[in-house]
Amino acid sequence: MKTISGMFLIVAVLIAGIASTGQTPKWVIGMSQCNRGEPWRVQMDADIKKAAAEHPELTVIFKDAQNDTLKQRAHLEEFVDAKVNLLIVSPKEAAPLTPPVAEAYRKGIPVIILDRRVLGNEYTTFIGADNKKIGRAAGQWAAARFPKSGKVVELKGLMTSTPGQDRHSGFLEGIKGAGLDVVFEADMKWLEGDARKEMESALAVQKKIDLVYAHNDPGAHGAYLAAKAAGREKEMLFVGIDGLPQEGQIYVQQGILAASFEYPTGGREAIETALRILKGERAPKEITLRSRVFTPENIKKGGEWLDQIPVR
Ligand code: FRU
Repeated sequence: MKTISGMFLIVAVLIAGIASTGQTPKWVIGMSQCNRGEPWRVQMDADIKKAAAEHPELTVIFKDAQNDTLKQRAHLEEFVDAKVNLLIVSPKEAAPLTPPVAEAYRKGIPVIILDRRVLGNEYTTFIGADNKKIGRAAGQWAAARFPKSGKVVELKGLMTSTPGQDRHSGFLEGIKGAGLDVVFEADMKWLEGDARKEMESALAVQKKIDLVYAHNDPGAHGAYLAAKAAGREKEMLFVGIDGLPQEGQIYVQQGILAASFEYPTGGREAIETALRILKGERAPKEITLRSRVFTPENIKKGGEWLDQIPVR
């Protein structure tokens, strides 16, 4: 039954594709997005859509798992049943999404993993920026800003997802040997609302906070709102990750964030890589995207590339 509805979906998509472009789409890509509730993921889907629109031979079907791991597993199974030609997956969490990805891959469907990783190596290509490097750069930036001592609140992304783990361990490496103390840490699961609540707790127990390091810009903004409501936002600096033009970069311009580290969506690169794979070319197992840092000092000239910052 599932297979029939899957096939029906593909046929419907192909007919719609022919009607809109006049050309027969040759390949159908299934895109499994873990959620579309945050600006960064809306941007990722938009980047994929825009890049795919330049290739009438491609049709992309998007599914939004609404931050529900079980729903994302089901979406992957539906795409496999529908016999899509290629899968792009941006998984919510590593461990629970590894088996359905591996199963699709074993059935011969090429799989591009975007942004958050799965475990093992049963996929075709991973595309994403280096989260450890971003975390380390954030740590080094913080250490340079507070050379003697400083009290840090760390608001972590979902720690069952790999960017959360890497942004945490990278940051600790970056502040190693510096006089910074992480005095409060909590998992805000990438969500602005959770970050705000966690920050309220941090403010209640910490009389002095110098810096908030949040694993994404929504988290940093949530923390800022909590500090502002307590009348303490001028006491500390806020640092986030994502650096979207319509989000983190604006916060930097407004003086809300002292720094935002760019985390590119990789949407365009995913479509370029998908095309290579579908044409039978070999794609690298790993594609690492570059990242910039935006601060009030460099934002007008477009930020600074992390790989061009001299290593301490
Ligand atoms: C969006 C998001 C981004 C973050 C990325 C990490 O869901 O939380 O803000 O950089 O996921 O995977």
